[in-house]
Amino acid sequence: SVVRRQDYLPPAFWIDTVDLCFDLEPAKTRVLNKMRVRRNPAAPEQPLRLHGEALNLARVLVNGQGASFKLEDGLLVLSNLPDDEAGFDLEIFTTCQPDKNTLLSGLFVSQGTFFTQCEAEGFRRITYFLDRPDVMSVYTVTLRADKAAYPVLLSNGNLVEQGELEGGRHYAKWHDPFRKPSYLFALVAGQLVAREQHIKARNGCEHLLQVYVRPGDLEKTEHAMQSLIASIAWDETRFGLHLDLERFMIVATSDFNMGAMENKGLNIFNTKYVLANQATATDTDFSNVESVVGHEYFHNWTGNRITCRDWFQLSLKEGLTVFRDQEFSMDMAGSDSARAVKRIEDVRLLRTVQFAEDAGPMAHPVRPDSYQEINNFYTVTIYEKGAEVVRMMHTLVGEAGFRKGVSLYFERHDGQAVTCDDFAQAIADANPESELARLLPQFKRWYSQAGTPHVYAVGQHDAAAQTYTLTFTQKIKPTPGQPDKQPAVIPLRVALFSASGQPLQLQLQSAEGIEPAASEHTLVLHDSLQAFTFANVPEAPIPSILRGFSAPVVLHQNLGDEALEVLLEHDSDPFNRWEAGQQWAQRLLLAAIGAGDASAEAAPTPTVLPERFIDALRQVLRDPQLDAAFQDLMLTLPSEAYLAEQLDVVDPQRIHQVRQAAQRQLARALAPEWQAVWEAHQDTGAYRPDAQSAGRRALAAKALFMLCLLAAETGDAVWPGKAYQRFKDAGNMTDRLNALTALVHAGHPLAEPALTRFHQLFKNEALVLDKWFQLQASAPDAGGRGLHKVQQLMQHADFNLKNPNRARSLIFAFTNANPAAFHREDGAGYQFWADQVIALNAINAQVAARLARALDAWRKLDEPFRHHAEAALRRVAAQDKLSKDVREIIEKALV
Ligand code: ARG
Ligand code: ZN
Repeated sequence: SVVRRQDYLPPAFWIDTVDLCFDLEPAKTRVLNKMRVRRNPAAPEQPLRLHGEALNLARVLVNGQGASFKLEDGLLVLSNLPDDEAGFDLEIFTTCQPDKNTLLSGLFVSQGTFFTQCEAEGFRRITYFLDRPDVMSVYTVTLRADKAAYPVLLSNGNLVEQGELEGGRHYAKWHDPFRKPSYLFALVAGQLVAREQHIKARNGCEHLLQVYVRPGDLEKTEHAMQSLIASIAWDETRFGLHLDLERFMIVATSDFNMGAMENKGLNIFNTKYVLANQATATDTDFSNVESVVGHEYFHNWTGNRITCRDWFQLSLKEGLTVFRDQEFSMDMAGSDSARAVKRIEDVRLLRTVQFAEDAGPMAHPVRPDSYQEINNFYTVTIYEKGAEVVRMMHTLVGEAGFRKGVSLYFERHDGQAVTCDDFAQAIADANPESELARLLPQFKRWYSQAGTPHVYAVGQHDAAAQTYTLTFTQKIKPTPGQPDKQPAVIPLRVALFSASGQPLQLQLQSAEGIEPAASEHTLVLHDSLQAFTFANVPEAPIPSILRGFSAPVVLHQNLGDEALEVLLEHDSDPFNRWEAGQQWAQRLLLAAIGAGDASAEAAPTPTVLPERFIDALRQVLRDPQLDAAFQDLMLTLPSEAYLAEQLDVVDPQRIHQVRQAAQRQLARALAPEWQAVWEAHQDTGAYRPDAQSAGRRALAAKALFMLCLLAAETGDAVWPGKAYQRFKDAGNMTDRLNALTALVHAGHPLAEPALTRFHQLFKNEALVLDKWFQLQASAPDAGGRGLHKVQQLMQHADFNLKNPNRARSLIFAFTNANPAAFHREDGAGYQFWADQVIALNAINAQVAARLARALDAWRKLDEPFRHHAEAALRRVAAQDKLSKDVREIIEKALV
């Protein structure tokens, strides 16, 4: 059944207060739910229909009296309710089975501890309720449990009472003064320990911060705590938003469907985004912890204080909060170069994953029009494209204007459940003179239209008039249900360079005359064809367009190799400098892929990259001015997934071969530079996960990998030996895992003993074992043995399909990050995929539905891949016990 945005109706009833009492037992938890309910006078008179799922209903009382009720398609329906304007008391008593809850939605048990996950629709698995985000209530929660087994009892808000009960039990009572929707409810009960910190905020308020983990993990919580403190300070400085709670808690669980959850005052996190120390976590883990802690904390205002009216508005909180966490990470990174590195990483994710989503069967607008299962819409479109939409508003109104807009948004809507329109309106209204305000209706097409705009730029120099004209056309391809598209509002940051790479001053001609000279201009497209002319341009310039990736579009411009080389060397915008190299590499790789004849693959040293391109990269590697992290990105070829994205017909094997060949060429041609880089970045100082040091480790790792790759060809033993040594002696997980990865990915025989040793060392560290599985699942498919390896690992004593992190680290790493092993000519990879989707479907529909998406792009596959993929999809579709999560994905893929 389909839910449609246009069918939104306000709730028929309000629930003003909720008093919940839990008797926590893993096999049977009893929940007494006392609500104060009243009719919504704005809605037509009708029965009260409460959501409920997987509950055993024992009793319903209205104003203390037994009441009659019906159960209709999972809804609890109450008619003939008291007609008192003041409302009535509704008391519902149910039980549920947390230890049977493998879906990890609602109340579940993880390693003996109770946790909840209620977003989007998990609260209905705890009690009957109006489980929709526009019904906001004040919660009081009493938890009762065995004291020895569950010494810590937590819920949202403030602890108001606690004490002993008979039979070794105890209780705690929590009160959350803020009205909130049910999806923000949380409880935790178990054996946990906390790192604590008292802080005094800028406005003088005192707060208690706590990070709860299992005993033994405490020494891995320092970074999460520091990240939380930094997040609080950042939101105060950047947006004037203060922590509104006396107590702010983060709790980690190792069984979690997603990254983390922003429950009011009680954030629940996947351990992956809390636990970090140098022995077990990589630089990437450290930076992910910082960004996810920030993300969930920032939700306290953007999501919790102002929430979503309905789930179609999900990007209202997610797009905005991702924008905020991206800005936070950039501000934390410090230098301009480090900011650019973060931007490039974010754009890389957007372009490989979100652009693919926008071009496939699950394409949907940032504000979708319909869904079957809302959990399927926690997507890169809602999150990352949504963040880009917010970023474009920021670009159009400027930093100060954006802050004014956010303030107006809170002035107008604090405490409300609102829509994406409300947000855009507030930003525009606070900046009435801005292009955003002028073009607001067109701008909002970013919310309603799916698909990535393609922008075509043509530059023309008029020597006589000394002008340079840039002409832009834009086009969005049809997406499912949206055949026709309107032009989008696209801010394009543009600069011009001379043929020798000197920055030029831009003098834009407009109807009013010539605008003051500037080194950069933001041109705003809003029509399908538009031209902009710059005055006083004596010779043909090189344009640098879409600087900083100022809009989520695909830019087509026919720059020659010379122009790309100039930008690669001289562009003052680091993003476009990187992009010039990527464009150039992409062109070369696609040409080689297209020229594919079978004999070329067999050639021992195929040449994909011309000397000129390699020289340009050599300069980058030798440039002492450049940050290592930036050099590392410059030296990374476009991924196989990104290259596949550029093609209409995809042969994953061919793409893999060409990219591998190019990679080997870089290894060989730049060998002296790789050695120099390795020597130059041998840090001996204490481990610090800051952006600078992380960048140096990343570049050194790339050098080591390249040298091991080369050794695999030459038979040289020195570099693999160094890699093994580093693997053994490394003082931190980043260096250790990088060295191991170099051996595994170069296919060196030392990889086997190293993997065995790694497992021995870390057999009690779940998050490190995830890395161990992940590395092997993403290892090159030597001799087509990749699938077999994964199947073997599925039988490993440490593998557990029920644990989402473990399932992702083995299965998803294979299907989503190892294209050459997954896309086999015999289709066995797809059969394995189907088996796992079916197996997971019975355990955890949300995780299964994520895996189901691995074949989204099957129609673009070349034969024989395509018909094998279709057969696998059809086999899943034919299952009779398919969850609606998986069914929606598979049906859309097969349309
Ligand atoms: N709101 C959470 C976050 O972005 C994620 C919740 C995901 N929920 C889900 N059902 N997939 O921080
Ligand atoms: Zn979020």
